[in-house]
Amino acid sequence: MKISAVIPAAGSGERFGGKKQLKNLDGRPLLYHTLQPFIRSALINEIVVVVPKKDVDQVDRELRSMISAKPVKVVAGGNSRQVSVHNGLAATDESSELICVHDAVRPFVTEGLIEKAVKACSEHDGVIVAQSSTDTIKKVMEDQILETLPRETIWRAQTPQVFSKLALQEALELAEAEDIQGTDEASLLERIGYQVGFVEGSSLNIKITTEEDWVFAEAIYNRLQE
Ligand code: CTP
Ligand code: MG
Repeated sequence: MKISAVIPAAGSGERFGGKKQLKNLDGRPLLYHTLQPFIRSALINEIVVVVPKKDVDQVDRELRSMISAKPVKVVAGGNSRQVSVHNGLAATDESSELICVHDAVRPFVTEGLIEKAVKACSEHDGVIVAQSSTDTIKKVMEDQILETLPRETIWRAQTPQVFSKLALQEALELAEAEDIQGTDEASLLERIGYQVGFVEGSSLNIKITTEEDWVFAEAIYNRLQE
């Protein structure tokens, strides 16, 4: 079965204060680190990286000089993550049957996590990597707590998220037609009745969202080098 990785990297990093996906970690752009396990994994046949329109040529040149082991395409993103993923999907090879979506700003993904999610896909329409919540989660309205959600039912979605290409295509098209924006791809499949499973993620697989997260990223990176 052919599998394409789609790596959305077209955000502007408003909360971070700049394009975190291109910020250097140990002398290499974050995006480069994120791509390594996808390049190494024998399950991934091609990689589509989605970047801001004005960065396409430069990123394409840089990745070409660094990566030769696997086909890598660089395409332009859109105004939302959803549109960026859709653009990436549209650029995948016709023969690919599964799509593995992974945030460019989760650099500590491993081959093991990718492979665990892909393998579990045989039993579902899609599979995401998730982690059980160690915090108690409250539902709030303005400055009031409405209720405390039962913690054992709360899982935090990460990426990779792997889907049947046809199901993901349908979910993205319907969401666009109905003007719905999901914060991840899985939610777009769930809402139209597809079965999405999950496998246990890793607390090292953090998403770099704010400037403070860079501190954790450097600490994790340094620990993993030891
Ligand atoms: N992303 C994308 N296209 C967009 C918006 C986001 O490809 N229009 C990507 C980001 O580059 C990132 C991933 O989706 O790899 C997760 O998004 P997020 O952490 O929200 O990054 P940004 O959107 O860049 O940050 P912010 O929301 O703070 O602006
Ligand atoms: Mg965003």
